[in-house]
Amino acid sequence: MAATNETSFPERNRGWYKEDLTEIEGPIRKLLENYSKIPPAEVVKHINSIRERGFAANPYPCIGLYRFTNLTLLTHPLYDSIVERLRAAGATYLDVGCCFGQDLRQLVLDGVPSDRLIGLDVAGALMDLGYEFFLDRGVLCSRFVVADVFKGAEQGPVWTDLEKRGVDVMHCSAFFHLFTLEDQISAAKNLARLIKKDGVIVGRQIGSIKPGDVPAIKDQSFSYRHDVDSFNAMWKQVGEATETQWKVEGTMDMVGINVNSPVEDENSRRLLFTVTRIG
Ligand SMILES: C[S@@+](CC[C@H](N)C(=O)[O-])C[C@H]1O[C@@H](n2cnc3c(N)ncnc32)[C@H](O)[C@@H]1O
Repeated sequence: MAATNETSFPERNRGWYKEDLTEIEGPIRKLLENYSKIPPAEVVKHINSIRERGFAANPYPCIGLYRFTNLTLLTHPLYDSIVERLRAAGATYLDVGCCFGQDLRQLVLDGVPSDRLIGLDVAGALMDLGYEFFLDRGVLCSRFVVADVFKGAEQGPVWTDLEKRGVDVMHCSAFFHLFTLEDQISAAKNLARLIKKDGVIVGRQIGSIKPGDVPAIKDQSFSYRHDVDSFNAMWKQVGEATETQWKVEGTMDMVGINVNSPVEDENSRRLLFTVTRIG
């Protein structure tokens, strides 16, 4: 696997551990104030404390650089229709690599019943910390599943129950871009088997105007960055292997991209995508 799960404070020195926040505005502040009822003066301190503990558990750039404070699903053009879809009885949402579960809590704030929302991550500690981030342990009725996307059905009921239930909306943000193309295809094959016909996979990841390998966060490993065409080609391959059909739509732009950041460069773009199961 290209991604790292090393728990090591030296990761702070590799460029993806920002100084503590001194202020924060936008949807995450609203979520923490309105959903979690955190007093406005406490919000920054609370985020800093969760970032510190999350980074100690799993030193990902998205934690060290505070990218978890961007509610990425909210920026997706289908967000309002996703909320509508999930308000219908029997709908299921799965957030793959959900980390603290921030996007899932935003859906609850926007009126989606929490019992139809599921978070999934290989790192149980991050999902557990999510309860402390959002102060909703014992209140939130969503399930959080500790599972490895690469292992799929071989993990037993933790995965096969999801296959049986079927997913209408899957959120998959900052996930595929962690891995080599080969690993992305094997992850996508497992995820494809969870999606109902007409279901969608939506997300955001770091793309590139020059699709190909870039150094990954673990030394001497690589991860593959897509443009819309290469992402489409990947889903064609996944469809052939799983006897399903997919329509891929995507856009690339500079939103949230910092060419001076240790994890991006001048070819980097935000890739926002919708992958619809059409057959
Ligand atoms: C870069 S973070 C993205 C978090 C969140 N989706 C976001 O957009 O802020 C990637 C997440 O994927 C999880 N992850 C990595 N490998 C995984 C795997 N094989 N199966 C399930 N989750 C995995 C990590 O633990 C981490 O929480």
